[in-house]
Amino acid sequence: MALLLNTRLSALCALLLLAVSTDAQGPVSSQLTSLSEVSSVASSVSSVLSSATASVSVSTLSSVASSAVPSSGSSASSSALSTVSSPVSESISASVSTLSSAVTSAVSSAATTTASSAPATETTLITLPISSYPFSSFPVPSASPIPGTFPSTSPKSPPPPGSELVPDFGPAWAKAHAQAQQRIASWTLEQKVNVTTGVGWMGGRCVGNIGAVADWPGLCLEDSPLGVRFTDFATAFPAGITVAATWNRTLLRQRGVAMGREFKGKGVHVALGPMMNMGRIAQGGRNWEGFGADPFLTGEAAYETVLGLQQGGVQACAKHYVNNDQEHKRDHESSEVDDRTEHEIYVHPFMRSVQAGVASVMCSYNQINASWACENERTLNQILKGEAGFQGYVMSDWGAHHSTLAAVAGLDMSMPGDISFGSGTSWWGANLTAFVENGTIAESRVNDMAERIIAAWYLLDQDNNYPNVSFNAFFPDDPATNEHVDVQDDHFKVVREIGAAGTVLLKNVGDALPLRKPRSIAIIGNDSGPSTRGPNGYPDRGGDDGTLAMGWGSGTANFPYLITPLEALQARARKDRASVASFLGNWDLAGAAAAAVDQDVALVFVNADSGEDYITVDGNEGDRKNLTLWGNADALVAAVAAVNRNTVVVVHAVGPAILEPWIENPNVTAVLWASLPGQESGNALVDVLYGAVSPSGRLPYTIARSPADYGAQLTTGGTPSDILLIEYAEGLNIDYRHFDSNNIEPRFEFGFGLSYTNFSYSDLQVRAVHHADRTSAALEAAWAKGEASPDVEGGSTAIWLHRPVFEVSFRVTNTGKVKGGEIPQLYLHFPPSAAEPPSVLRGFADVLLSPGESKTVTLALSRYDLSVWDAARQGWRKPEGKFALSVGASSRDFRLRGGVPV
Ligand code: BGC
Repeated sequence: MALLLNTRLSALCALLLLAVSTDAQGPVSSQLTSLSEVSSVASSVSSVLSSATASVSVSTLSSVASSAVPSSGSSASSSALSTVSSPVSESISASVSTLSSAVTSAVSSAATTTASSAPATETTLITLPISSYPFSSFPVPSASPIPGTFPSTSPKSPPPPGSELVPDFGPAWAKAHAQAQQRIASWTLEQKVNVTTGVGWMGGRCVGNIGAVADWPGLCLEDSPLGVRFTDFATAFPAGITVAATWNRTLLRQRGVAMGREFKGKGVHVALGPMMNMGRIAQGGRNWEGFGADPFLTGEAAYETVLGLQQGGVQACAKHYVNNDQEHKRDHESSEVDDRTEHEIYVHPFMRSVQAGVASVMCSYNQINASWACENERTLNQILKGEAGFQGYVMSDWGAHHSTLAAVAGLDMSMPGDISFGSGTSWWGANLTAFVENGTIAESRVNDMAERIIAAWYLLDQDNNYPNVSFNAFFPDDPATNEHVDVQDDHFKVVREIGAAGTVLLKNVGDALPLRKPRSIAIIGNDSGPSTRGPNGYPDRGGDDGTLAMGWGSGTANFPYLITPLEALQARARKDRASVASFLGNWDLAGAAAAAVDQDVALVFVNADSGEDYITVDGNEGDRKNLTLWGNADALVAAVAAVNRNTVVVVHAVGPAILEPWIENPNVTAVLWASLPGQESGNALVDVLYGAVSPSGRLPYTIARSPADYGAQLTTGGTPSDILLIEYAEGLNIDYRHFDSNNIEPRFEFGFGLSYTNFSYSDLQVRAVHHADRTSAALEAAWAKGEASPDVEGGSTAIWLHRPVFEVSFRVTNTGKVKGGEIPQLYLHFPPSAAEPPSVLRGFADVLLSPGESKTVTLALSRYDLSVWDAARQGWRKPEGKFALSVGASSRDFRLRGGVPV
């Protein structure tokens, strides 16, 4: 604790001094006028540091603060500091939360009381003491593939979806690093610094830009996880949550490849996705950008998407690392997460991205255990670059960079490069150069940063005829900078396919679906039709008007067009000479009922929206304020169901919603959960409604009966300057694991989804896989004895840990009358000693079967899959006791059970 306090107090000294130093600094290394001032600040910092020992007294701090801050601000800063002093001096057990929020407010007072030109409003708690930081680079984990690996993996030719072979990008990274080293060998320190520092907000054509250095052309970084943002003639793909609901690796990969080609076609070097934060809380505003609430499903989706994007030629960016799982106070919160939960749940998808050879990772806005994500030594240096052996670079989220010293904790690139948007200042640029020149940051670290960034560019072959940037994100109407290059190809096809495959059939009484040539159809609800402003009428889709096909925020793209359900259904209905009535108002219940009366089927469209915190829609500040459907939806469904005994509800939603008001209404005969399907929304829906596609989508999260049933809730409150504590108290019990652990009956469980046909499961077999090679025999034997895997660079991604050790096979048969897809799921039941939740997903597959047809499915289990993270030993360990597994159609519909003879 004393050490912790010391670190924090030292950090405070450092921060106050940095606040002053930034006041004097220019943004990039081209503005080197104040170098000597920086040096003198840094050397005074060093002397402060040497006095900032475990016994540092509050009075020392106060005097440091008042000498550091210009006199006009000294009283404000010292009075703020006294808030810090009392808990520190009175109680050694002062909570980190009190301390960090007090420090933060002290610091922001100090920062804002510097000269009026001071830009440092972003100045806040830093968690690294200023000292001299030597640096030695992280070794490449493997340059010699061993059995179980995919030979000579290059991003251009990855293993096929579903392959058991573990790709080893080690040799490709090693080559790329060698090329990068050579490229930067003759560069000056300033040139290398420039590779690490964005040119500032709106300083180039993309949302993030690295300027050219010598004959190296620089980088364009552009959103989003579902398509190229802020441009035209590009595809608006289904959102992450929708492709996750397909549970289909091939479609995940195809979407990745198609998006990768579009980013490349527009000249983007780095696509800012996929997003892989967990749906920890159902209300989470950005959950829809990601892949749901289970780490394994999210990990597989992240893995396939990264492989796909990079196969398409663009660098992928795994974001937001890590624990940025709600929007409320996302840049003023500390996610308090224990080490085991961090590894098993939240880091897992990032680790899978590293295994897919991801070029870059974006650190997030929040703090993790009281240290900013972009200067968090634990998550960046130790876990990501150390344990996972990440060879690419870490960029900050936009404005999530808080100190020059973040470099020593593992940050490699500052985005967009200025301290606050348009401030004209930077934590890096001239400041980074100065910190190297005065010996605070080792030059080898800056070399490593630049090398990582340039190596990623080589890894993706971006030195080879890469297209120029042909659009302008900020000025899309400027004729000089927008060439309107059409990159869409035939990607609408995969959009439509995913839209259908990601649609989950939740209820289907008396085979209400598929529709069989109904003669009359009523289409009800605002969500069925176009927005009054057109598909892109609300900036960053920040409005819920018309059919919902993506959420709002930076995770969006412009729709090149949007096929509404109304449009597609009318076109389809005319083939049967059906009559179509429609009523798009949600509040005129009598009008809606009148349109639905006497129709063969009434289709009611409802939705729930959310997004990023910089836009508030109907009182929802990014996160949803509740889990009810929007726009009077429950009353609308009830009004229609009251007059039509064949009411089919279609839901477009960002995440779970409470369906209790009408789900058991006998007149609601079917419910389709259509998620966020992208530009082909209506066509994809028609494919499912009319039975061209039998639904095989499965829920990537639990739909509860009551919001209170979820194991974690949105953490609310906090004053603007507080660091809000978000306790991840549920630990491993995220989503369905909480329902299982506490015997809570969900409305629809994780993994659930109906079909137009039926499947049976048989012939479960579990067999051990033996590799003839002895390369890792000692490690494997130690693991079998229950020893933790070694805590070494690349230890978490080592091939011996991830190649198959068991194969689980079984037969799936289509016993129904129509062709359809099934998603068999494998859940592991750890022995009690492991203290895991009752069931955890560890495998899934997609099988498409004609009536009467069967297929054998084989799923692999690795040692990693059978391990828990041992926080004491810092390694992956097989727990003592018997393992069991179940194979079935959801997290609660187990059809086959067996043991794992481990
Ligand atoms: C978001 C990122 C996004 C970045 C650039 C940030 O506010 O959190 O996801 O990539 O902006 O637009």
